[in-house]
Amino acid sequence: MDNSLKDRILESVDIVEVIGERVALRRKGREYVGLCPFHADHNPSMFVNPQKRIFKCWACGAGGDVIRFVQLSERCGFREALESLGRRVGIEPNAGPRDERAARMREQLLAAMNWARQHFERNFADERRGRLAREYTQQRGLSEETVRQARLGLAVDEWDDLLAEGRRRGLSEALLESAGLVTTSQNGKTYDRFRGRLIFPITDALGRVVAFGGRTLGEDSAKYLNSPETVLFNKSRVLYGLDLARGAIQERRAVVVVEGYMDAVLLRQHGVENVVATLGTALTDAHVKLLRGAADVIYLCFDGDEAGVRAADRAVEVALQHPVEVRVVLLEGGQDPADCVVAEGQEGFERQLKAARDALEFKWTQTLSAFSTAAGADRRQALEVYLRFVAQVGALRRS
Ligand code: UTP
Ligand code: MN
Repeated sequence: MDNSLKDRILESVDIVEVIGERVALRRKGREYVGLCPFHADHNPSMFVNPQKRIFKCWACGAGGDVIRFVQLSERCGFREALESLGRRVGIEPNAGPRDERAARMREQLLAAMNWARQHFERNFADERRGRLAREYTQQRGLSEETVRQARLGLAVDEWDDLLAEGRRRGLSEALLESAGLVTTSQNGKTYDRFRGRLIFPITDALGRVVAFGGRTLGEDSAKYLNSPETVLFNKSRVLYGLDLARGAIQERRAVVVVEGYMDAVLLRQHGVENVVATLGTALTDAHVKLLRGAADVIYLCFDGDEAGVRAADRAVEVALQHPVEVRVVLLEGGQDPADCVVAEGQEGFERQLKAARDALEFKWTQTLSAFSTAAGADRRQALEVYLRFVAQVGALRRS
């Protein structure tokens, strides 16, 4: 057996995430506990230790590494478990020479992203070049501690700041392009993708940088720009801030999902630590799967405008197909979650969570209003559509 492959997978996979998708885990000191899925467990007797990367049930004796867990829970062999875990982290277990190359490529990309993050952080901290960005973050109410924790950075407003620095470091243009850090125009000119932007590093579940989001500091008509999809980054499978939020989500068994990076960062600063943001996309099945093991309740928090209601409606349809409780928060008065927590503090925001509507109730209100006219509501028709919806998500949920 190729031990280095096994080790690579064990190193890359987050055991808490994998087991958390099957078992509701609670943090207990350095470990996590949950009901053991391998016997009829009534008191949580399964422990997961993220440092040692093992699990153990004290009642039935099941235990081992994450590969063993997948073997037991999927009733499959070692090889199959390895393949399924490898797919999660982009490591191809049937490692021929070609796959070795792919793995090396991934590592180079991760290193390039990490280097770029540091470069953006240095720009931000630079006395002269970073002044505008620092003023901007202050004006938005971000503390220095928050900037450090979120590792915010600055892409200066130049065409080849990162590119030139990369060249000096001996990083090839091809690598930077594969990482989505630079792009090439039709006439063959290569230049920095992010320019004049406040940079939000986007990490995977293990805290490795896989993409960036950048908010314009100027007048660019694209307020936010994200990394393109790369070998490392698939935006429908990544949630912004999940690595920082995981502990708090598990502790509270609840997660707040917002739409903006700024929302996530400011909520965390104000004590709402169980928060993640989607990346300018609708909520996906993969997103909910990332969350549902850690949380019993998902709060979908959107602006109260028409776009927000539509986004909530779509997100509810996706989330309700999973065995979790879904609640909807629609903020009023044109506020987004960041505005709300800055104006009203943690308490004010948590009042909104308490007042959240159950997703089924929200869906009913939506359906009813779709069948309403000036003359009144066609309740019967609305009810038929609604019942069909409930039956449909119910069926998907059981499957
Ligand atoms: P918002 O415009 O609500 O962002 O877009 P925000 O976080 O509240 O930004 P501020 O407060 O104006 O700084 C929400 C999210 O939608 C995506 C981004 O992921 C953003 O965080 N988005 C938005 C884009 O991808 N592109 C855009 O041009 C705008
Ligand atoms: Mn905003």
